[in-house]
Amino acid sequence: MILMKIVLVTGGASFIGSHIVDLLLKTGYEPIIIDNLSTGEKENIPKNITMYKMDILSSEVINVFSKEKPDYVIHQAAQVDVTRSMKSPLTDASVNIMGTLNLLKYCKTFKIKKFIYASTSAVYGNTSDCSITEYFPIQPISYYGVSKHSSELYIKLFHHQYHLPYTILRYANVYGPRQTPKGEGGVISIFIKKLLKSEIPIIFGDGNQTRDFIYVKDVANANIRSLSYGDNKVINISRNEKVTINELYHKIISLIPGPSIPSY
Ligand SMILES: NC(=O)c1ccc[n+]([C@@H]2O[C@H](COP(=O)([O-])OP(=O)(O)OC[C@H]3O[C@@H](n4cnc5c(N)ncnc54)[C@H](O)[C@@H]3O)[C@@H](O)[C@H]2O)c1
Repeated sequence: MILMKIVLVTGGASFIGSHIVDLLLKTGYEPIIIDNLSTGEKENIPKNITMYKMDILSSEVINVFSKEKPDYVIHQAAQVDVTRSMKSPLTDASVNIMGTLNLLKYCKTFKIKKFIYASTSAVYGNTSDCSITEYFPIQPISYYGVSKHSSELYIKLFHHQYHLPYTILRYANVYGPRQTPKGEGGVISIFIKKLLKSEIPIIFGDGNQTRDFIYVKDVANANIRSLSYGDNKVINISRNEKVTINELYHKIISLIPGPSIPSY
């Protein structure tokens, strides 16, 4: 009998986490989920998946590790709202730093094979350069970027002290099905939703600000590949191609049929 490898996906009911769960199932892993459903949706995940509705800060997380004995942890759960992080840095740090630390503690105790972490290109701050490499200076301009990077440092120290293997994936702006307008890459879902209702989306500034978008299934794939590759590395997950918000807007209206589409 071949035993399936168990992968604990925190935030598995999320926009990105749920695509990771789908791909884990397709590739022969057994995903289990911890999610407090603060922004995640139960409808995002298949019915027969074991999901613990639980906060990653809870001391009960130990019961999940001891009952399920996961081989790997893919950590997606987070406070992802950049604006909220500026208003409530304490809440942001609590979920993103303390929550990650709580998981790392149990990963060490239960000798998890690898910890895969959803970081963000927000750790680089404002970059006008098209090709951001992993060696770019870390200069976050939001508390969200700070908290995400702080967790990276804890993960590296856990590896150094306890040999816990890791891969840190710094996602660019992710887009695709199940996206909510709140996340980092939410502009695409906001534009599509508004334009389908023939409403004019607001473009902040002159619209020449750029983003680097990546499709959610490519991000899920990067996570699954990290189970076998990229040990103890930090890897940017992006197309490394910048698109202005104006270009994005015009691309989307070119794809939506109908005479009543407003044009900037
Ligand atoms: N969407 C992007 O463009 C983007 C870019 C870079 C990095 N990321 C990272 O990817 C990950 C997934 O983000 P997403 O865009 O799918 O957002 P999301 O809001 O859909 O996902 C966050 C998930 O974490 C859960 N969660 C939040 N706080 C929790 C807590 N205390 N305990 C348990 N669960 C909790 C939520 O219910 C949700 O399911 C996050 O770590 C985020 O920082 C996202």
